[in-house]
Amino acid sequence: MKTPINITITGAAGRISYALIYRVAAGELLGPDQPINLQLLEVSSEMAVLKGIVMELNDCIFPLLNHVVITDQPEVAFNQADYVFMLGAKPRVLGMERKDLLQANAEIFAIHGRALGEVASRDVKVLVAGNPSNTNALIALKSAEGLGAKNFTALTYLDFHRAIGLLAEQGGVHPNFVRDIVIWGNHSATQYPDIHHAQIKGSAALDCVEYSWFVEEFIPIVQQRGGAIIEALGHSSVASAAYAAICQMRDWIVDTNPDSWISMAVLSDGSYGIEEGLIYSYPVRVVAGEATIVRGLDISEFSIEKMKETEAELKEERDAVKYLLEGEG
Ligand code: LMR
Repeated sequence: MKTPINITITGAAGRISYALIYRVAAGELLGPDQPINLQLLEVSSEMAVLKGIVMELNDCIFPLLNHVVITDQPEVAFNQADYVFMLGAKPRVLGMERKDLLQANAEIFAIHGRALGEVASRDVKVLVAGNPSNTNALIALKSAEGLGAKNFTALTYLDFHRAIGLLAEQGGVHPNFVRDIVIWGNHSATQYPDIHHAQIKGSAALDCVEYSWFVEEFIPIVQQRGGAIIEALGHSSVASAAYAAICQMRDWIVDTNPDSWISMAVLSDGSYGIEEGLIYSYPVRVVAGEATIVRGLDISEFSIEKMKETEAELKEERDAVKYLLEGEG
């Protein structure tokens, strides 16, 4: 039997966790022959709910689930963690932007980042989904001594999926036939879903859809999709967020298709003129578990403007939490 891999989930009694945990335990992340340990972190007031979740885990008798820990102590939850889903954060409600959560959630990511630096595996992969996820990932990274850029990403796979789905619908094809969309920047209403390089069934997407549709409908719909879901459901996205988190982590572990790319938010190294040191969503390829920004794409004037707009918002967010970014990570 293979050695079990430690997977930590924060906000483990929350909605997204409930949609994610059983899929992970069933082997959807690491495949059908990799045993796992689950290390579930939650605030003490939610422990009773977490115990219920564990009862259900036990009742599923998952063949791959080796051991489950529940705790309110970050140092216990992150101990020797190999993969971490950072879901724990106050969610937004109707009328809020994700950045309105920054002050409420920032401190959590600083505390969790410090604990990750102390006890997690040096190769840990941490996916931040709690909003505002880009800047929360930056706080965690900067707080995690001994960990760095290769250890942290923020979730923009949800936007990536949304953009693929919408373009496929407009192009009249199944999403399987859409590729090479880029989500640039922040997981927020300033993100820039870019189809300049995208293909629909092997043809340039911009030959298949109207440019005016791209600018006037596609971009705002993708940017506002999270808010539209809150309006419809009465709470923020759950199933699609959990699924996107699994897909992003899986693609970060397993190599991506060398002819295509995915989009996820990583530490900017200055590529495409974006300021270094922001967690910014880029086109990314993964080789041997290492995510690398795809460089050399032609960028139009229109795209540069949009990419700068979302960069400006990320700089503002970063400046608002400067007091938490002095760490060694
Ligand atoms: C989403 O995009 O659905 C999530 O980030 C939740 C939210 O606040 O919109």
